[in-house]
Amino acid sequence: MASRSIFVTLFVIVMLSLATAALSATLSASYYNKVCPGALPAIKRVVEAAVKQERRMGASLLRLNFHDCFVNGCDASILLDQTSIIDSEKNALPNVNSARGFEVIDKIKAEVDKACGRPLVSCADILAVAARDSVVALGGPTWEVPLGRRDSTTASRATANSDLPSPFMDLPALISTFQKQGLNAKDLVALSGAHTLGFAKCQLFKNRIYNETTIDAKFARQRQTTCPRTGGDLNLAPLDQTAAAFDTKYFNNLVSKKGLLHSDQALFLGGQTDGLVKSYSTNLDSFSNDFANSMIKMGNIKPLTGNNGQVRLNCRRVN
Ligand code: HEM
Ligand SMILES: *[C@@H]1O[C@H](CO)[C@@H](O)[C@H](O)[C@H]1NC(C)=O
Repeated sequence: MASRSIFVTLFVIVMLSLATAALSATLSASYYNKVCPGALPAIKRVVEAAVKQERRMGASLLRLNFHDCFVNGCDASILLDQTSIIDSEKNALPNVNSARGFEVIDKIKAEVDKACGRPLVSCADILAVAARDSVVALGGPTWEVPLGRRDSTTASRATANSDLPSPFMDLPALISTFQKQGLNAKDLVALSGAHTLGFAKCQLFKNRIYNETTIDAKFARQRQTTCPRTGGDLNLAPLDQTAAAFDTKYFNNLVSKKGLLHSDQALFLGGQTDGLVKSYSTNLDSFSNDFANSMIKMGNIKPLTGNNGQVRLNCRRVN
């Protein structure tokens, strides 16, 4: 019957277009495989060189990906410089004099565009791949990074100030900042494990080492030697004792009240995340596995796909 075959045809067309829409809104690890097989190797080369030159750069690149994704999704908004119309996220409280690695991202962008012969790879995808390659370069797990994000044409300093967690937060506030991004308490603990890498400024843990009682006394005194009661605000201390190695020391420290930031110790202070912290502290494989899974989940926060956004020519500016 003609009417039935028309119905079937229409049904097939509707299903196909739904599938296509779903595809364009979904990231894929093989996104650049055919169009530019040299893209991912180029990113890896630059990250490895940068980490070799300065181990901390791996930590800084990982943090850039986090600070991008938590502010209106993983759209490279954090990379946009201040202009008369862009209210740069670089000037938000959690980023100013703190977020770093922008020159390395510029270098990656130049090398990737050269490898592909044209500007094909988005700055948002570069941030996600550079974070993975950084973790690998410092001895951590690897994972396949879903790709196909596009770059924003806007930035929001206000959202960076409101949506990024502060080091002075307690557990309920930390959980709710993550919940706002569709991430749960397990993601919070696993991703906080990123603090197995990198450094923090004295001004962000000063109150903790001089005023708090939830800290190991010997550890507090040790940190006080490079973080005086007054002054020294920009002095750095490692977030754990092996700041350039992805390991379980961060979680070991929490279990023995040696978390550097108030927000670190909040994960092991008698609350609902105690059990997970304890288990990560003795199980590198389970931490590594959960970290990789949560990084993929974080990378899926509100990506721009299809015709939304753009692929920037220069990560610091909209086209
Ligand atoms: C849970 C809430 C979090 C809070 C409150 C927080 C806070 C901070 C603070 C205050 C610093 C030191 C910044 C400075 O002194 O300039 C820092 C460093 C760092 N954070 Fe977090 N963070 C959190 C979660 C995360 C997550 C989810 C990641 C990545 C997945 C991450 C990765 C890093 C890294 C790698 C560093 C060291 C950066 C460097 O040495 O350049 N953090 N964080
Ligand atoms: C310790 O707490 C007091 C009272 O809140 C505060 O005035 C002081 O600045 C704190 N000290 C440090 C080093 O943060």
